[in-house]
Amino acid sequence: MERSLVLLKPDAVQRGLAGNIISRFEAKGLKIVGMKMRTFPTELLEKHYEVHNERPFFRGLVEFMTSGPVVALALEGKDAISVIRSLVGKTNSREAAPGTIRGDLGMSFSNNLVHASDAPETAKFELGLWFSDAAELSDWTPVTEPWVYNVAEELNA
Ligand code: CMP
Repeated sequence: MERSLVLLKPDAVQRGLAGNIISRFEAKGLKIVGMKMRTFPTELLEKHYEVHNERPFFRGLVEFMTSGPVVALALEGKDAISVIRSLVGKTNSREAAPGTIRGDLGMSFSNNLVHASDAPETAKFELGLWFSDAAELSDWTPVTEPWVYNVAEELNA
């Protein structure tokens, strides 16, 4: 099982799309192991987006991400990082495929509703940043798990 960090950005919360987006992850079979909402501090967003700190959009991105509440989710599943990236769609929402979160719900490059970790090392870094207290993460087994996955092939392999 793999874990990934997902952020529902201020535009998703302001537009009342948080439930819709969380439902898509749940319906897919991804397990929520952490979830919290608040207007997070600038310092956290600067660290989160530090790979972009030389880019011209960096300051605007940090201001946008601290402009209102964000929902931070830790999601778990087999190949969760790539599965979530494909559910989210291309960064520019106007180019994202129908059926994806950005493709169905967005029209913007910057206000693109969701952030999702893009690789295992990034997920480790981002989960440590957003859920630095391990007590905020729950290890649990959904009763549906043996139906979401094939037990012999995927759970006991
Ligand atoms: P996200 O997946 O959160 O990762 C970095 C974010 O920077 C990206 O989504 C966009 O919201 C934003 N971003 C990336 N490139 C640009 C750009 N060229 N102009 C504006 N925003 C950008």
